[in-house]
Amino acid sequence: MPSLSPAAERNKGPIFEILNPLLPTGAQVMEVASGTGQHADYFCEKRPDLRWQPSDPDQASFENIMEFYRARKSEAFQEPIRWSVFDPLPEPLQRSFDAVVNINMIHISPWEACLALLDHCKIWLASGGLLHLYGPFILGDRPTAASNLAFHQSLQARDPRWGLRELDQVVAAAATRGLLWKKTIDMPANNVSVLFSAPRRDFPSR
Ligand SMILES: C[S@@+](CC[C@H](N)C(=O)[O-])C[C@H]1O[C@@H](n2cnc3c(N)ncnc32)[C@H](O)[C@@H]1O
Repeated sequence: MPSLSPAAERNKGPIFEILNPLLPTGAQVMEVASGTGQHADYFCEKRPDLRWQPSDPDQASFENIMEFYRARKSEAFQEPIRWSVFDPLPEPLQRSFDAVVNINMIHISPWEACLALLDHCKIWLASGGLLHLYGPFILGDRPTAASNLAFHQSLQARDPRWGLRELDQVVAAAATRGLLWKKTIDMPANNVSVLFSAPRRDFPSR
């Protein structure tokens, strides 16, 4: 039996509700930092038309995702890749995706990991493609919840390069890579889903 993350078990349903209507039939989805693989498994169960590429650099996480992959036996669930945003792109990732999904990573890694993720999105996302970031953020328009402040401090104590990100800074970094902020949606437990889109590239008709 694969290990389960209680947080992923709680948030997979609410995240699915947000993303499901935004993913076209047959959408190619790249998931960065899949962790246990629960989100990949849930989306592939609910949407067998998707082509969901899970990835994570951590060996134990990778093996856990492999357990889900073998059990699901669905064309939707692509073979997981052991990969960090700091690595060069392996062959299976050298293509475009309709959506990139990243859940609870950018505060548990250095700021450079967020920038590297955005760099990859610039290359990956097809015209009008979607980037979904999920997690706790420092939001410009409201005070940070006490639980999120405490979490931020505990992350910084573990590694001073970690910590909750200011959403305005993430939006600005995305904009310099041509990724446009679309929407921030409140989610349970003081988390948010943040949606970005790649510009539409309309080719002139002949
Ligand atoms: C808190 S877990 C979240 C996992 C999963 N997305 C979830 O929500 O359950 C953070 C994940 O980020 C991954 N991670 C950390 N640094 C990374 C990097 N440089 N590139 C890709 N993933 C990374 C870790 O291996 C870990 O699985």
